[in-house]
Amino acid sequence: MFDKLCLIGVGLIGGSIAKAAKKHGLARTIVGYGREQDSANLALALDLGLIDAFFTDIASAVTNADGVILAAPVASTESILAQLKPHWSSATLYSDVGSTKVSVISALKAVFGEVPSNFIPAHPIAGAEQSGALAAVDQLFVNKRLIITPTSTTNHDLLLKLQWFWRRLGAIVSCMDAEPHDQILAATSHLPHVLAYALVDLLGHKDEQREIFKYAAGGFKDFTRIASSDPTMWTDICLANQAAILPLIHELQAELDKIALMLNNGDRQQLFTIFSYANQARQRFLNQLDNSMAKTITFHIQPGGRLQGETRVPGDKSMSHRSIMLGSLADGVTHVTGFLQAEDALATLQAFRDMGVRIDGPENGQVTIYGVGKDGLKQPKNELYLGNSGTSMRLLSGLLAGQPFNCVLTGDKSLSGRPMRRVTEPLAQMGAEIQTTEQGTAPLRITGKAGQLKAIDYQMPMASAQVKSCLLLAGMYAQGETRVTEPAPTRDHTERMLAGFNYPVKREGNTAIISAEGRLTAMTIDVPSDISSAAFFLVGASIAPGSDVTLRHVGINPTRTGVINILRLMGANIEVLNEREIGGEPVADLRVQYSPLTGINIPEDLVPLAIDEFPVLFVAAACATGETRLSGAEELRVKESDRIQVMADGLQLLGVNAEPTPDGMVIQGGGNIGGGVVNSHGDHRIAMAFSIAGLRASAPITVLDCANVNTSFREFKDIATQLGLGLTCVED
Ligand code: S3P
Repeated sequence: MFDKLCLIGVGLIGGSIAKAAKKHGLARTIVGYGREQDSANLALALDLGLIDAFFTDIASAVTNADGVILAAPVASTESILAQLKPHWSSATLYSDVGSTKVSVISALKAVFGEVPSNFIPAHPIAGAEQSGALAAVDQLFVNKRLIITPTSTTNHDLLLKLQWFWRRLGAIVSCMDAEPHDQILAATSHLPHVLAYALVDLLGHKDEQREIFKYAAGGFKDFTRIASSDPTMWTDICLANQAAILPLIHELQAELDKIALMLNNGDRQQLFTIFSYANQARQRFLNQLDNSMAKTITFHIQPGGRLQGETRVPGDKSMSHRSIMLGSLADGVTHVTGFLQAEDALATLQAFRDMGVRIDGPENGQVTIYGVGKDGLKQPKNELYLGNSGTSMRLLSGLLAGQPFNCVLTGDKSLSGRPMRRVTEPLAQMGAEIQTTEQGTAPLRITGKAGQLKAIDYQMPMASAQVKSCLLLAGMYAQGETRVTEPAPTRDHTERMLAGFNYPVKREGNTAIISAEGRLTAMTIDVPSDISSAAFFLVGASIAPGSDVTLRHVGINPTRTGVINILRLMGANIEVLNEREIGGEPVADLRVQYSPLTGINIPEDLVPLAIDEFPVLFVAAACATGETRLSGAEELRVKESDRIQVMADGLQLLGVNAEPTPDGMVIQGGGNIGGGVVNSHGDHRIAMAFSIAGLRASAPITVLDCANVNTSFREFKDIATQLGLGLTCVED
């Protein structure tokens, strides 16, 4: 790539570029330049084999170099450029690695009168507290972001060459203007450094410093790690970017004042709202990263055991989503209890906060929603990130199609691969304008068509509550009567909850009917436990001899109880106790005791009523004597993972005879379930299903990629172990 690459400065960054460029054979010769006083470090770089030669006079260093990278402190940029000017070569690619880019561009203009077309400012976001050639590592840039800030004069070919160079070093390269770069870095890097230095400075100067530092544990260490960074470098960076850092310091001061006032007033609720918002925002941010910072969770299951005891699993996911959506659109204040505090439902909650709705909580399942009325949503400032949650995306696409603003819906890798045409096509028939990718997937770019949607009479090609709910929500903003007919009954929480909010919805056979006539009146919602979460223990207790479990307060809406019916057909012993109705939804306690299961042909009409429970039902089938056949369940292929393939792969790995078919699976049960390492492919229900399989396994099972259990059932590990499953969870 380069014949002779010259690094102006061979510290951590310059040295790491040299080391990585050598490793990948990107330069025939690499030389370093430094001042006299840097000779020892340069000699060390030579000894370490990072560079082939070094110079302390710049002319010799850059002679015949076709690549020159400034990797010295940003404050020295202008003087280095002035020294380079007499030796400038138009055939050479010049770049830098400075943390601030506007200052580099100003220095170029000061020295050259303009930005030379062959100087391309760049910034690898890959610092570390250590400095000097000794700290150099060839992996420093792998999977790290590198931002190039080209100018209007930048030479295109050299830009491509620089991009290619950094990609070869493993960096994720992107381009942006210098100003936004500096603003982003001020917020994400420079301000945190200022804070870390400030805190240590403050505490260090206190008389009682010894006492304080003696007791300073993890939080202090984590927070102040970056105060160990090179003070000269950071003084330079902060001064170079003071224009972007100062406004942030002022905003932070205001935020701290706000928190101080809350503490002073003992305002627990407001303080909790800030902390829980930050907690959730950080989690979303980690989830969006290219997995480099996101945690991985592995479940290790000891074979055997039984489940015993009484428990209450968390709130119903479908109802939790809908409580936020309808509560936000209602007139008045809606109080929710039993809300599911898991990532999917929190994604919906955050989306409505982003659209201007004040929502307090959740705290112990309690949420208070200050409804803005049917037409009160505001345009979100940014894209709405919905994580792993298909329900959020599909329902929101309908709700947002008829708003007076545009917005973009995005999701994680799994959600970005799931089919969205099932909602965008009927919505388009209503006059909505929603752009998807060519594959019909997210991001969904919605152009709000307030007042322009028209009702349709839609026959759904698949039994999907998400599609039905999406169209009903769009129908609340359409002219005329929207009619949605389902090929088989699907969960009807949207219709029930709309009725609870006093919004008129009619039902004629398999058709749900809605119009724009109506408003929602705030209500109180008690979300029952999620039968889809209870299902893991219904199966667990059914397959493990000696088990006896009672699951309290479970939602037993008949559109959700397929799992009970299927298990009973297989011979399970499930009692439905204390049946009652709460807020328009049937609820009961479920007692399940071990009972030998027998394989069955699963009736197709039960499929939509147990659609989320098949991963764990396949485990039940593996433990049942004889053959179990599932058909008519092609929808399983487009859930958070391809649940037919992923379950068949995992079961086979555990020694179970499980044959996937296009729309289901055939399982020969009753044999031995062995141990092994199965991959959940980031699908929460697969991870939990294989954990339950451990109850009947003959050797330990390890389940990989379980972090997404947090999307629906954060307490799974605790509840499962409390009931008797030998589950340990390892996070890294
Ligand atoms: C849901 C409907 C189902 C289900 C999902 C939640 C809902 O999806 O799988 O977990 O809340 O409406 P489909 O409607 O696509 O089958």
